[in-house]
Amino acid sequence: MFSTPFVLSFALLLSLPILFHFGPRIIPPMHLQISLADELDDLALFRRAAIALPRPRSRRPVSRLGTTNPKPKIAFLFLTNTDLHFAPLWDRFFSGHERLYNVYVHADSATQVADHGGDVFSGRFIKARRTERASPTLISAARRLLAAALLDDPLNSYFAVVSQHCIPLHSFQFTYRTLFTPPPIPTESTRKLTQFRYPTSYIEILSGEPQLLDRYNARGENIMLPEIPFDRFRIGSQFFALTRKHALLVIKDRRLWRKFRLPCLNTDSCYPEEHYFPTLLSMQDPNGCTHYTLTRVNWTDSTGGHPHTYCPPEVSPNLIHELRVSNSSYSYLFARKFSPDCLDPLMDLADKVIFRD
Ligand SMILES: *[C@@H]1O[C@H](CO)[C@@H](O)[C@H](O)[C@H]1NC(C)=O
Ligand SMILES: *[C@@H]1O[C@H](CO)[C@@H](O)[C@H](O)[C@H]1NC(C)=O
Repeated sequence: MFSTPFVLSFALLLSLPILFHFGPRIIPPMHLQISLADELDDLALFRRAAIALPRPRSRRPVSRLGTTNPKPKIAFLFLTNTDLHFAPLWDRFFSGHERLYNVYVHADSATQVADHGGDVFSGRFIKARRTERASPTLISAARRLLAAALLDDPLNSYFAVVSQHCIPLHSFQFTYRTLFTPPPIPTESTRKLTQFRYPTSYIEILSGEPQLLDRYNARGENIMLPEIPFDRFRIGSQFFALTRKHALLVIKDRRLWRKFRLPCLNTDSCYPEEHYFPTLLSMQDPNGCTHYTLTRVNWTDSTGGHPHTYCPPEVSPNLIHELRVSNSSYSYLFARKFSPDCLDPLMDLADKVIFRD
């Protein structure tokens, strides 16, 4: 009745959906994916955050002349999968500036990260999920941090992502002033240098890097089309400081996320969080971003996608001074990565060097 090749190809065709359905249960995926339930949970959170009040209700009249003018705050978003080794250093950094910042922590739910009492991190842990490199989970963790901070305090005006390996390179006052001081009115000769609108997001946005094509095709050849043509695909550090406007833009995005949430087929070229944020912001508001990051990192002799990790003998006043200096007119505010045992030598330098500007 039917020819054998027909039956064969029909059987093959029939087996495809079965393979897709059961395949993932038989062969566990190599890297963490985001379940539908988690995806819907995130969507609900982002929706709530997107309609959060942009301005605080002024409730504290101070004099007949008017009301207090509450100052904008920096939301520090800690993304971690270990204990926060440098808590005492951050404690010292934040000390005395309680009205000017908030802290939020996303600690990988698969690890037992202690919520130590008595420091700035206590009670600041948001609902977290598992995170893993080479998967979109680091993007969604950063987006949940942004959403939590947007919802929590309408005064949060800058949203700075840091990790447990990051340290501050300057005092809080210096950091605050850097973010909240508008650049001088450009003259004809400085127009090119100060081409960015204020307030500006500090996010690295690079193109033309080697391996960019491999990373673009990591989920399958041209699968990012049509939303993201290759010439719009960007790379940059996932450690950034976004304005409130851009934090909102990020949590409202559905279009690019649909592509970036796809699993990588080539996990050697899979660093979704290094592409999602720079690509999205460079597509939507390139002139609202500096295109550089404020977090210094040392890629010399990097291994397995990890930058150089500083160890105690390397920590010195000289290193701090060196790490601050950029190739441009700005100073780096943060640096990574430092091994946990750098805490003691860093604490020795805290008041003498790091917080002295
Ligand atoms: C960067 O790391 C290399 C070792 O990988 C080290 O020799 C160099 O001094 C470091 N640079 C800075 C500025 O710390
Ligand atoms: C500055 O530029 C030089 C030469 O391009 C480069 O080797 C160095 O890593 C850069 N330093 C920083 C802090 O970006």
